[in-house]
Amino acid sequence: MKKNKVIILKDLPKFALNSACFTTADRPVKEPMLGEVLIKVKLISIDAANRAWLNGQTYRPAVSVGDIMPAYGIGEVVKSRSKNLNKGDLVSGELEWSEYTTKPASFLKKADGNYNLTDLLTYKGIAGLTAYHGLLNIAKIEPKETVLVSTAAGSVGIFACQIARILGCKVIGLSSSDEKCDWVEKNLGINKCINYKGENFSKTLKEICPEGIDVYFDNVGGNLLEQTLYRMRLKGRVVCCGVISQYDQDTTTSPKNIPGVIVTKRLKLEGFIVMDFQKENFKALEDLSKWFEAGQLKVFTEEYKGLDSAPLALINLLKGKNLGKTIIKI
Ligand SMILES: NC(=O)c1ccc[n+]([C@@H]2O[C@H](COP(=O)([O-])OP(=O)(O)OC[C@H]3O[C@@H](n4cnc5c(N)ncnc54)[C@H](OP(=O)(O)O)[C@@H]3O)[C@@H](O)[C@H]2O)c1
Repeated sequence: MKKNKVIILKDLPKFALNSACFTTADRPVKEPMLGEVLIKVKLISIDAANRAWLNGQTYRPAVSVGDIMPAYGIGEVVKSRSKNLNKGDLVSGELEWSEYTTKPASFLKKADGNYNLTDLLTYKGIAGLTAYHGLLNIAKIEPKETVLVSTAAGSVGIFACQIARILGCKVIGLSSSDEKCDWVEKNLGINKCINYKGENFSKTLKEICPEGIDVYFDNVGGNLLEQTLYRMRLKGRVVCCGVISQYDQDTTTSPKNIPGVIVTKRLKLEGFIVMDFQKENFKALEDLSKWFEAGQLKVFTEEYKGLDSAPLALINLLKGKNLGKTIIKI
C-alpha cells in the first residue's frame, strides 16, 4: 500500500509553539469509502487559526495530541467514490499536513473556471474573503472614513488595507517593526503604517488620526485593542476578526477599558467568522477579482517548499516573520 507522509501533533505547546510539538510519520493512504475522495495535497495554507485550534474548541473542535495537523488547503482528487467529484478535479477545504488525505466530498469545494492555485488561497480564499466581509458586511465602511488595520503585513491584513484604500478610506496599518511598516506603506499604498512596538505608540496614533478612528479591523485583541479603543470616534465600529496576541501564550490579557469605553463612546464591537458569509461570497469574489484584474489589489506570499517546512512556517507566522500569505507548496 502507498505510503503517506503526515505531520502529527506530538505535544501541546506549554507556551510558544515550537517544532518539538510535531513529529513526522508514514501512514498508509486511506482508501476512500462511498461518498469520499482521496486527495493529493498541493498547497497548504498556514493560518494564525491553526495555533488557536491547539488551545481548545473554537468554531471547530480542538486538535488533540496524536491528530494529523489539520489545515486549509488545495488538492487534486486522485480517486473518487463520489458522484460529485471526479479524478483530476481541484478542490479546496480543510485538508491536513500530509501528502494525501481522504475526505467526504461534501466537505470540499470544487475549483471552477480559470484559476491559479495561489489565487485560491489569497484574494479568492479565506484571506481575501475575511477582509472583504469584515469591512463591507460587518463594518460597512464608507469612503473617507478612517480605517485602522492590525496585522497589516499579514495575510488578512494586506487585503483589509488594500480594500479599504480602494473604497476611498483613509487607511492606517499597524505592524511590529519599522521595516514591516515601510514594506506596508510601499506595497499596499495606504496612508501610514505605525510600529505598535515603537516608543509613544499611543501618541503617534493620536497624531496620525487626530479625527479619531471610525473603524478598527482588529486581528489582535489584548493590549493593542485596549490602546486603540481610546482613539475610536463616537459611534465607531470594531471588527473583531481575531485575537492573535492571545494564541501563542498560556495567559490571556483582556483590554481593561471594556466595557467602560464602549459605553462612553457608544462603540459597536462585532465578531464574525468568514464562513458566516457564504451567501455573500459570489458578490465578494466578483469585486475581489475585478480589483485584482485592474491591478488595484495585489497579492503577496511567503512561500515554503515541502511538507516538512509546515511547523517552521507556522512558528514564523506567530513570530511575525511573514509578509503576506504563508503557503506551503507540496
Ligand atoms: N474571523 C475569521 O473568519 C478569520 C479568518 C482568518 C483569519 N482570522 C484572524 O486574522 C488574524 C490574522 O491571521 P492570519 O492567518 O492572516 O495571519 P497573518 O496576519 O498572516 O500572520 C500573523 C501576524 O500576526 C501578528 N502577530 C503575531 N503575534 C502577535 C502579537 N502577540 N500581537 C500582535 N500581533 C501579533 C504578526 O504581525 P506583526 O509582526 O505585524 O505584528 C504576524 O505576522 C488572526 O487573528 C486570525 O485568527 C480570522
